[in-house]
Amino acid sequence: MHQDVERILFTEDQIRAGIDRVAAEVTRTYSSTPFTVVSVLKGSCVFASDLIRRIPIPLELAFVSAASYGEGTTSGALQLNFFPAESEIQGRNLLLVDDILDTGKTLSRLVGEMHRRGARDVKSCVFLDKPARRAVAFQSDFRAFEVDDLFVVGYGLDFAGHYRNLPYVGALRKECYERPRSAMR
Ligand code: IMP
Ligand code: MG
Repeated sequence: MHQDVERILFTEDQIRAGIDRVAAEVTRTYSSTPFTVVSVLKGSCVFASDLIRRIPIPLELAFVSAASYGEGTTSGALQLNFFPAESEIQGRNLLLVDDILDTGKTLSRLVGEMHRRGARDVKSCVFLDKPARRAVAFQSDFRAFEVDDLFVVGYGLDFAGHYRNLPYVGALRKECYERPRSAMR
């Protein structure tokens, strides 16, 4: 797996520092407001689990599942697989947490869906932000890092379902997007 990474963009130490900073911002924002962290699966599971452990105030946790990428490196049709129960959305202050804000389609759709289902307030927090790729106007309320227009993997981010378990974020070698899935180590 490591040999498929062309270069490391964020090391484990840098990630830890970025998350400490975002966690402090989130903590300040919700210091007197009850809220629910809604982790967007699958990509945000690593980030969300590190983030919540650095937020020392009460919060609840819920999950939503969205998939847009399929097996390529460009965005496909957005599939929303499941939502939290109605009782976990209605009247609640939600913080949607995602791995990366790319075209913006996933988060803008999810924010709309949460409002439609009765959320009181919806904010968003992303691990990575790729502003160069935005296709719909959307800005997250919190972000750990900005990245250039590169396809990145690790720390929850995948290519065709792989590399989520890398502890750092790296740029994938070009050959790796091009070779067939069966050749993946
Ligand atoms: P958006 O809807 O285009 O903003 O895309 C959001 C989703 O696309 C993310 O949750 C990721 O699953 C995926 N994605 C976008 N860029 C990358 C990348 O560089 N590496 C891995 N996944 C990505
Ligand atoms: Mg994803």
